[in-house]
Amino acid sequence: MVKHRKPTLVLKAEELARAAEILRSGGLVVFPTETVFGLGADATNPQAVAGIFEAKGRPADNPLIVHLASTEQLPQVARCVSDPARRLIEAFWPGPLTLVLPKQASIPETVTAGLDTVAVRIPNHPLALKLLTMAQRPIAAPSANRSGRPSGTRLSEILDDLAGRVDAVIDGPSPALGLESSVVDVSHGDQRPPRLLRSGSVTLEQLQRILPDCQPPLAEPSSSDDLMRSPGLRHPHYQPRAEVRLFDDPAELPVDPGARTGPLMVLALTPAQRTLPADCHWLAFDSLEAYAAELYAGLRQADRLRARQVWCQRVSEQGLGRAVMDRLRRAAAARP
Ligand code: TXA
Ligand code: MG
Repeated sequence: MVKHRKPTLVLKAEELARAAEILRSGGLVVFPTETVFGLGADATNPQAVAGIFEAKGRPADNPLIVHLASTEQLPQVARCVSDPARRLIEAFWPGPLTLVLPKQASIPETVTAGLDTVAVRIPNHPLALKLLTMAQRPIAAPSANRSGRPSGTRLSEILDDLAGRVDAVIDGPSPALGLESSVVDVSHGDQRPPRLLRSGSVTLEQLQRILPDCQPPLAEPSSSDDLMRSPGLRHPHYQPRAEVRLFDDPAELPVDPGARTGPLMVLALTPAQRTLPADCHWLAFDSLEAYAAELYAGLRQADRLRARQVWCQRVSEQGLGRAVMDRLRRAAAARP
C-alpha cells in the first residue's frame, strides 16, 4: 500500500520558488519538460528518491534520469565525460537526449538501480530550466505516471495518476514533443560504440550524423548483459486499460458494432473514410510529429471513453517513426 501524503498543491509558473523549496526539502514535484512531465526529487537525497519509486509504483530495478540546469553540474553526477558524449552534448543539449555516463560516487544507488552508470539530461524547457536552477541540485525525474501506464502529457492526467502521492504539480504548458527523450549509452568511451537504448525525438539518423558508429536499439535483448544495460526494456510500459492493437490498413478495423464487444478508439495518420458508429472514436493526426505528441493522450482518452480496444496505425520505422513504433509495440505487448 502506498501511503498517501498531504493534498497535492497545484502551483503556477510564478510559484517556482515554492516548488524549488519543496524539492530542496526532500519533497516530490511534478514539472513540465519539452518531452513529457517529470516526477522530480533531489537526486542527492536517497529518501527523496525512494519517494519517487513509491509514488509511481515503479520497480526498484529501473533507474532514473538525472536532470541538470547546466553542464557545469556534470561533475557532480558523472565521473567522466567521453569525447563522443561531449560531441552529443554540443549538438543536442539542452534537448530531448539523455546520456548514460559513468556514475559519480555521490549519486545514490537508488537513482541508478545499482548500476555504475547514470542517465543525465538538460531539458529544453524554460520552466524546467528555471526550476532546476532554483533547486540548485541535480533532480532525478522519471515520467510522471503510475508505472506501466502511458506517460503524462496533460495536467489532468498527472492528477488522475498522482494526486495525493506527490507534494506539488507545476501547471505549465503541455509538453510539445509528447514522447520521452532518446537515451544513448556513451559510458564506454572508445572501448565500445555508443548505443541508442530508447528512441525519441533525437533520431538515430541525427545521432549518426554526429557519431557515425552509433548503434540502433536492440530489437530483442539477447543476453542478460543487454538487459542490464537497458533496464527500461524489462517492464511493461505505456499501457492503457484498453487492449492495444496495431494496424496498417483501415480495412482491418472492426468498425461495425457486430465485429466487436464495446466502444472502439482509433489513432491513425489516415482520416476515417466513412461515417462511423457513435461508439467508434477516430483520432486522425495530420503529421508524424502530431501522432508522437498526442499518442499518450490518445491512449488515455481511450480509457476515459471506456473503449475495449484502441487500434493504432503503424508508421514507417525511420526518423521519429522509430520512437513511435517502439511505444506502439510496447503498448500492444502481452500483459504480465
Ligand atoms: O523525456 C524523458 O526522458 C522524461 C523526462 C521527465 O525527462 N523522463 C523519462 O524517465 O522518460 P523514465 O524514468 O520514464 O525513463 C528513463 C529511462 C528508462 O528506460 C531507464 O531504464 C533508462 O532511462 N535509464 C536510466 N538510467 C539508466 C542507466 N544508467 N543505464 C541505462 N538506462 C538507463
Ligand atoms: Mg517512463
